[in-house]
Amino acid sequence: MNQETLDLITNSIKSIQDYPKPGILFRDVTSLMEVPEAYRATIAILAEKYQDQGITKIIGTEARGFLFGAPLALALGVAFVPVRKPGKLPREVIAESYELEYGKDTLEIHKDAIVAGDKVLLVDDLLATGGTIEATTNLVRRLGGDVTDAAFVINLPDIGGEARLQGLGLNVYSICD
Ligand code: PRP
Ligand code: ADE
Repeated sequence: MNQETLDLITNSIKSIQDYPKPGILFRDVTSLMEVPEAYRATIAILAEKYQDQGITKIIGTEARGFLFGAPLALALGVAFVPVRKPGKLPREVIAESYELEYGKDTLEIHKDAIVAGDKVLLVDDLLATGGTIEATTNLVRRLGGDVTDAAFVINLPDIGGEARLQGLGLNVYSICD
């Protein structure tokens, strides 16, 4: 990734102070997707990093993980599996609850979406506490999937999510801070 491309991506992400709660600096990837060259470059960087690594499925976590996980799955020619907030998936699910930087939530996955031997890459827009991706890792591992990598557009390094995920045995990659 060259510096010009990195600057394009970084400068496309707007930051909003005190959203959704006082004290939170919200990093808004919708502004990145409004710049087609920045969005395309983001997916291209992730595709280059994860091609030829034997990945069989990409998981994106609702909602913003869909925005990067699904195009990456198409670019790599592998399956995309959504992890969703409760009550949204129609087949049999398993669930995990977790804490957010600004709340608490539960995630679900279709029980038959992962099979033993799947090599799974987790994708989300942003890493903060790591709670979302820890819960997603737990879901995939409960179904017998092999999760070794998690990729983000943005890492908020001061919040500690990277160390938390490394503690679960994940390789963590992010395009920018
Ligand atoms: C945001 C973001 C990540 C998560 C990061 O999602 O898209 O999934 O928080 O925080 P963490 O590392 O502390 O878990 P959010 O739950 O706000 O839902 P959304 O994607 O539906 O907006
Ligand atoms: N999810 C958790 N923390 C966030 C932040 N600071 N900006 C955007 N999304 C988030």
